[in-house]
Amino acid sequence: MEQYIIKGGIPLIGEVEIGGAKNAALAILAAAIMCDEPVYIENVPNVRDTNVLLQAITEIGAVVERIGPHSVKINGKKINSICVDYEFIKKIRASYYLLGALLGKYHQAEVALPGGCNIGSRPIDQHKKGFEALGAEVLIESGMVKANAKRLRGSHIYFDLATVGATINVMMAAVLAEGDTILENAAKEPHVVDAANFLNSMGAKIKGAGTDVIRIRGVKSLHGTEYSIIPDQIEAGTFMMAAAATKGDVIVRNVIPKHLEAISAKLIETGCQITEEDDAVRVFGQSNLYHTNIKTLPYPGFPTDMQPQMTAVLALARGTSIVTETIFENRFKYAGELARMGADIKVEGGNTAIINGVSRLTGAEVNAPDLRAGAALVIAALAAEGYSVIDDIVYIERGYEDFEIKLNGLGAQIQKVKCEKDIQKFKLKIG
Ligand code: EPZ
Repeated sequence: MEQYIIKGGIPLIGEVEIGGAKNAALAILAAAIMCDEPVYIENVPNVRDTNVLLQAITEIGAVVERIGPHSVKINGKKINSICVDYEFIKKIRASYYLLGALLGKYHQAEVALPGGCNIGSRPIDQHKKGFEALGAEVLIESGMVKANAKRLRGSHIYFDLATVGATINVMMAAVLAEGDTILENAAKEPHVVDAANFLNSMGAKIKGAGTDVIRIRGVKSLHGTEYSIIPDQIEAGTFMMAAAATKGDVIVRNVIPKHLEAISAKLIETGCQITEEDDAVRVFGQSNLYHTNIKTLPYPGFPTDMQPQMTAVLALARGTSIVTETIFENRFKYAGELARMGADIKVEGGNTAIINGVSRLTGAEVNAPDLRAGAALVIAALAAEGYSVIDDIVYIERGYEDFEIKLNGLGAQIQKVKCEKDIQKFKLKIG
């Protein structure tokens, strides 16, 4: 298994370009099959999750052409199956967006039931509730979700909680339903808005995305489009945290500052200076970071996908910080790994971490338990004194394109390695 070797203690300095939003891309690539004309999508991040979803789309018969490293053309005209195999779901849960896309277009869909994952049980009851409200019969049997509908009719749907996945999935099924649909308690994340904007560019009639009430007027069909995906809020936030933890000075380019407001606000509370341009933010890490408290919330609150990265920064912030995770039930699995690097962190009740800042972290060999926790361990290793080895970086590569290359561009000493020999060579080279 590939690993990262990192020599920490070097302030990150310079500029980094942010790629397309993974979580917007996964929704949009699935929605692209809902018409029978070519759909051209740009700014698609070249990461494992998007590549697996493109394989799944190809598998059911859509024509997928790679136009460039970050652009793809999809044509759903030749789809010959409504059944998405388990092999794709077990690799990425977001394959379940094909449920909404196929149900909306063909009134039937069969997608393997996504299991839980490292951060929580991840049920899909709200997806099922939404599809049934539109008139579909949804059966969960033999590990498959089977949705069928003679007709899809608009409905007034109240989600029990703000759920990104269910909001997007049900929105996709509703755009081709007969009549009007209202989604109450809808998720407001930037990638929900991006998915709605994409569908509207295909001829859908969606209003209110980005608020907690989304109104959809069903149309008979959708048409081809050209679309560019928004920048990745979480990739941007991750580099902002790396700048703060290493006391660096980093300009994060190709971002939408509005999407980063909760992240910037919290970094400013720790003493970081942040300046904004139209499509960039600049983070000046300070020699002394101060404690603050974090509570993850649906957008526009502090994003759960930034919780591990912020905790890595707070590990070095003077005083006691409290981080409360309200979205997922098991998102502190990395705490023990941080502690191996010298962090003083204690998890209580499963969803609250109490962090007493320490003056220094020391490099260690650690495991990435999931995507964002892996990114947090890289941040800690970049700030730590000495060498760290991060195992299981396949998780990190699910959501960060060229992560080590972009960090090297900021002066980090990090390399992807395959074996102990590579590690020794790196240490000899760096000294
Ligand atoms: C999306 O997951 C993201 N993934 C996650 O990012 C992100 O953490 C999450 O939204 C929250 O922002 C993608 O977009 C591919 P939810 P999703 O439905 O849609 C509960 C990353 O690191 N829930 O908003 O699965 C659920 O258990 C990943 O990029 C139900 O109870 O998240 C959770 O507690 C990790 N029933 C809460 O809602 C349902 O039917 C929020 O989940 C659906 C969700």
